[in-house]
Amino acid sequence: MTHDEQAEREEALVQRVVDSFAGAPDARLRQLTQAAVRHLHAFLREVRLTEAEWKQGIDFLTAVGHTTDERRQEFILLSDTLGASMQTITVNNPADGDATEATVFGPFFVEDSPRIEHGGDIAMGAPGQPCWVEGTVRDTAGAPVAGARIEVWEADEDGFYDVQYADGRTTGRAHLFTDDEGRYSFWGITPTPYPIPHDGPVGAMLAATGRSPMRASHLHFMVTAEGLRTLVTHIFVRGDELLASDSVFGVKESLVKDFVEHGADDPTPDGRDLGGRAWSSTRFDVVLGRG
Ligand code: BEZ
Ligand code: FE
Repeated sequence: MTHDEQAEREEALVQRVVDSFAGAPDARLRQLTQAAVRHLHAFLREVRLTEAEWKQGIDFLTAVGHTTDERRQEFILLSDTLGASMQTITVNNPADGDATEATVFGPFFVEDSPRIEHGGDIAMGAPGQPCWVEGTVRDTAGAPVAGARIEVWEADEDGFYDVQYADGRTTGRAHLFTDDEGRYSFWGITPTPYPIPHDGPVGAMLAATGRSPMRASHLHFMVTAEGLRTLVTHIFVRGDELLASDSVFGVKESLVKDFVEHGADDPTPDGRDLGGRAWSSTRFDVVLGRG
């Protein structure tokens, strides 16, 4: 068979499969399935996938499924490490004026976090260097947003979120509301790097391809306010050497913030006694896009 005849056979098969979805009554479902088939076949044909590789791929996806349960979502981790989560966020959050950029949600958000007042402490005993965080929430016209709900969550300095411990603790997370001038402030802990869960098939994929599971140091935010676009994002630490190699591609330059180091003798913004410990501070001014 000539090269052209082989290509014709392959193309005819792609067309037959695409056509098999032509009668889907839902137009969007038709578009999604037909495009997925076209891209999948383009991949198979481009790399000339061997049958052994096809089997390996099936075994990999089967392992991803077996690793997934109510506590562990290995498929989302796969999406994250392939940049698919970040691409979906990018597609769905077009620039709106100077609205703050979004990034990955991650698996460690928990509903019903404790409420704190301004200047409260989200660490609640989590180990780490105290970090003062303050800022404002505004809309794209520059008006302060009062009563915006700010959810914050972060790993401790050992690299674990509270939900990764078996003892049911609630640490390193809380929510608070902006005041009448759109301001907020709280004590957290200075973010430190940690690895995404890498003891499963996604971790094996990273190891086999020479990639690191480490995430750049970050502090998660979710900001919601009536009539405005919900923002799911994090802030990163300027100078962190992992900024360029974050394992889930979550870093955006606009989200990299200065974390200023303060000595133990520096007075704290709210007069809090830190028991002789050094601390850091940062500022994150949020702009919410239109809803
Ligand atoms: C996180 O930042 O918490 C996270 C994001 C994606 C995958 C794993 C963890
Ligand atoms: Fe995280």
